[in-house]
Amino acid sequence: MTDTNPPITFDADVSDDAAVAMQVDILDIQAGVVGVTRLREWGHAALAVQPGEKVLDVGSGTGSEVRAMAELTGPTGEAVGVEPNPKLRAVADQRTTTTREWTRYVAGNAYELPFEDGTFDAVRCERVLQHLDQPQRAIDEMARVLKPGGRLTLLDSDWATAIVHPGDPEVARLCMEAMLTATPNPHSGRRLSGQVVLAGLTVADMGSEALIWPADIVTGMLLPMFVSTAQQAGFITTEQAARFATELQAAAHSGELHMSVTMFCALGRKPD
Ligand SMILES: C[S@@+](CC[C@H](N)C(=O)[O-])C[C@H]1O[C@@H](n2cnc3c(N)ncnc32)[C@H](O)[C@@H]1O
Repeated sequence: MTDTNPPITFDADVSDDAAVAMQVDILDIQAGVVGVTRLREWGHAALAVQPGEKVLDVGSGTGSEVRAMAELTGPTGEAVGVEPNPKLRAVADQRTTTTREWTRYVAGNAYELPFEDGTFDAVRCERVLQHLDQPQRAIDEMARVLKPGGRLTLLDSDWATAIVHPGDPEVARLCMEAMLTATPNPHSGRRLSGQVVLAGLTVADMGSEALIWPADIVTGMLLPMFVSTAQQAGFITTEQAARFATELQAAAHSGELHMSVTMFCALGRKPD
């Protein structure tokens, strides 16, 4: 169990069918976790998309939030998802039915959005910036494609706030260090408001929720990946990995397991 689980990556160039299927599974699972649904609702309320508006989701994955915004724009508006991975765009396309006529998914990269300046009334970007080496460059691009007075929401985790309990605290700390090292922008959550300001926008509000993973998802999927990533990177030994995994499996059975991370959402507004 501890040496056969590749770390999940959301790099733009993931093309292996099994790896993409794993990405889709994880995105679908996260979409059903209470903390994510609550912060998404907060973000959509803050963005306040109106009928007839033109809106964008950057790094749109399976397209769930593009479709949520399309319901709000209605057919007099347009909802666009930018997603570099063609296999995720295909999943998003396939899942788009009722809003099909005013929804589209386009190939593109957050660093060079394929749109003119001032195209969109509202832009959102969720759990993408943590995967980027140059998050400020991406946020500057989002600010560029917003109309004057337009709104932006950025939603991301801050991995230094992750909690794994119980189990050997030193092994937990080392696993977390491996996770921080493997993530290009692991402290994304705490940086969001400052980056919105650096992009020339004002911060109008901030929201936050903890993503608390259900125990069956931890034991079935996250724990094996979490532990094997740390082991493969040399942060913990095979023995430590096996013992830690056993401790957390037991905690899941007894009801003591807790694994969470804090997510933040910044609402920015472009000056008129
Ligand atoms: C964790 S997923 C989040 C997907 C979606 N935003 C959600 O919350 O369900 C990260 C997404 O960012 C995309 N991505 C990775 N690098 C990107 C880049 N440079 N520009 C735009 N999107 C990127 C990935 O392909 C993936 O769809």
